[in-house]
Amino acid sequence: MQILDGTLVSAHIKEQIKQDVIDWQATGGKKPHLAAILVGNNPASEAYVGHKVKSCAELGFESTLLRFDPSITETELIAEVKKLNDNADVDGILVQLPLPNHISGDNIINTIDPAKDVDGFHPISQGKMMLGQPTFLPATPYGIMLMLEHYNIDVAGMHCVVIGRSNIVGTPMTILLSRNTKPGNATVTLTHSRTKNLAEITRTADVIVAAIGKPFFVTADMVRPGAIVIDVGINRIDDATKKSGSRLVGDVDYDNVAPLCSYITPVPKGVGPMTICGLMMNTLLAAKQKAS
Ligand code: GUN
Repeated sequence: MQILDGTLVSAHIKEQIKQDVIDWQATGGKKPHLAAILVGNNPASEAYVGHKVKSCAELGFESTLLRFDPSITETELIAEVKKLNDNADVDGILVQLPLPNHISGDNIINTIDPAKDVDGFHPISQGKMMLGQPTFLPATPYGIMLMLEHYNIDVAGMHCVVIGRSNIVGTPMTILLSRNTKPGNATVTLTHSRTKNLAEITRTADVIVAAIGKPFFVTADMVRPGAIVIDVGINRIDDATKKSGSRLVGDVDYDNVAPLCSYITPVPKGVGPMTICGLMMNTLLAAKQKAS
């Protein structure tokens, strides 16, 4: 069993991005600038945005974090996104999800200028991705593809079973795995909370991508020996043995599943750091495209 080490791979990719930014500036390019919007103070969202802002500093990007009270109205938030669209200094915009219930995430994302949509969530980005046209890919599926590429894992012809059909992970993952460029060419099954006989399906998988948001959901009896397991889950559970009283676990029962696998991503330090890489790659691309 080999661990797919997100910290190691992301450090490697970040070094490349850092050098690319230096080269870009040497030819007169300006620092890529990411603007992040955070509404409210959800602790997980705070942590994710914190990592993104920190990574910008590490890579020589500029970043702006705009924080808003959860009482902000949808109209006010749309106006804030439009200001960022019109700000020539900003290359990429991300709105951290989830948003409060009184705000439509769709309406906010639809407002982002597709040229600055570095999360790849806008319908234009998603449509282009589906058609195989160059665009910003959603950061998590993009990061997973970068990880497969790094470890030279060729999924061509393999049966990949994706668990979870979200717009930001499960569904785009199926598109990227099945497209006819490397790494791709896989045969993909998308499963979800209403799938019957899920374990029967996952036991036929060469690759399982777990993105359902439920701790320990993928158990050893669901995994064929030799399978590759990618765990996208980030779930905080109580743990009295920890000083903080809690710890992060994925969607996979790691201790029992890992010994069966050919490759597996841990949580933390698996997919999480790769998501940041995907976002940073997109932001650099946005900056270069805007300048050209
Ligand atoms: N919430 C959970 N994952 C993501 C992500 O990749 N981007 C944004 N903006 N919000 C998220």
